[in-house]
Amino acid sequence: MPIEFAERVRRIPSYPVASGYDLGDDVAMLASNELPFGPVPEVLEAVQRVLPGINRYPDPTYSTLRTALSDRYGIPPARIALGNGSCDILLAAGEAMLEPGAEIVYSWPAFSEYPHLAAASGARPIEVPLDADDRHDLDAMAEQITVATRLVLICNPNNPTSTAVELDRVAAFLERVPSHACVILDEAYSEFSLTLGDPYASVELLRSWPNLVLLRTFSKVYGLAALRVGYALCGENSFRQAVDVVRQPFHLNVASQAAAVEALRHQDAVERRVTETLAARLALEQDVRDLGLWVAESDANFIWVRLPEHADEGSVLKCLRDRGVLVRSGISLGREGALRVTVGRPGENGRFVAALGELLPAVPGYKRPVGELP
Ligand SMILES: Cc1ncc(COP(=O)(O)O)c(C=O)c1O
Repeated sequence: MPIEFAERVRRIPSYPVASGYDLGDDVAMLASNELPFGPVPEVLEAVQRVLPGINRYPDPTYSTLRTALSDRYGIPPARIALGNGSCDILLAAGEAMLEPGAEIVYSWPAFSEYPHLAAASGARPIEVPLDADDRHDLDAMAEQITVATRLVLICNPNNPTSTAVELDRVAAFLERVPSHACVILDEAYSEFSLTLGDPYASVELLRSWPNLVLLRTFSKVYGLAALRVGYALCGENSFRQAVDVVRQPFHLNVASQAAAVEALRHQDAVERRVTETLAARLALEQDVRDLGLWVAESDANFIWVRLPEHADEGSVLKCLRDRGVLVRSGISLGREGALRVTVGRPGENGRFVAALGELLPAVPGYKRPVGELP
C-alpha cells in the first residue's frame, strides 16, 4: 500500500518553475524576472566574511538586517518580518490567517503562488479578473470583501502582467476594507515602477492602515535571488508575530543576512540598475510593438505580450527555445495567449526580438505591420 498524504497536498497547485537550466550557458534567460546583473563585489566579500562561522546557527532575531531595514524605512524593527524569500512570508501569512470558512481575495492572473494559500488552508479563494488593460480592478475586488475575508493580496506591479495601480487608488481601496482583513501589497517589483514613485511612497500608507503589509524582496532589484531574502513592513506588530510563530526558527541563513545588509548600503548600484533596466525595457517594448503585438503598459522589469489570437502558445515557446530564448508562457501563469518576458541584457533582449520576428510570419492570425521591422 502506498504511503498516505494529507488531502490538501492534492489540492495545492505546483508552482510553475522555469525550465531550461539544462540548456547550458548560451541561453537568453528571460523567464524568471531576475536581474541579469551579478552582486556588487562588496556583497560577495560580506558573504565570504561570514562563511568561517557557519558551524553556528544564525542570529534568530536577524537584528542587523532588521535594524538596517528599520533605519531605511523608518519602521520599528518589531514591525519588520523577514523571510526565506518573500514567498516564505506569503505562505506563512496563509498559514497564520487562513482556515476553512475564511476567504482570501486576489486578482487573477497574478503571482502564481497566491492560489497555494487557499489550497493549503482550505479557505475559499476569490479570484477577481483583471480589467481590460490587464490591471487590478480594485473596485471589483472591494465588492468581494465580506466578514469572512481574512486576507487580500494586491500584486503591484502585477506579475505576470507588469501593470501597476496608482497609490491613491490603493489608498481609496484601503478605505473600503474592514480593519479585520489584512491587505498585503506585494511589491516585489516596486523599485522599477514609475507609477508608484519612490520606494518610500507606499510606506506612508502604513501610518493610516494598521491592517496593511508591504511585502518586498531582495531577489529582484538587489540581485540576490539565489540567496532568498524577503521582508515585510507591517502596519502593526501582530502580523510579524504571527508569521514568526508558524515558521521554523533560523529561516534566514547567515550568508543571506550578510548579503542583504551589505546590498542595502549600495543604493547607487540599485539606482543604476533601475535606470539601465528601464531603458532596456522601453527599447524591448518598442521593438515588440513594432512587430505588431500588444504589450501591456509595464511598470516592472518584465513585459507582457499578447500573441495573435490563433497562435499556438506551445509552439511559439518551443520555437523560441530552439533559438536559445527562454520566456514564460501565459498559460502557465493563468492567461492563455500571452508571453511574459523578463528584461535581460541588451543582447538577450535583441535575441528574443529577432527570434520572435522570425517565427511570427508562420503564426496563424499574425498580421505583419506595414513599414520597417526592427
Ligand atoms: C509578485 C511576486 N511576489 C513575490 C515573489 C517571490 O519572490 P522571492 O520569494 O524570491 O522573494 C515573486 C517572485 O517572482 C513575485 O513575482
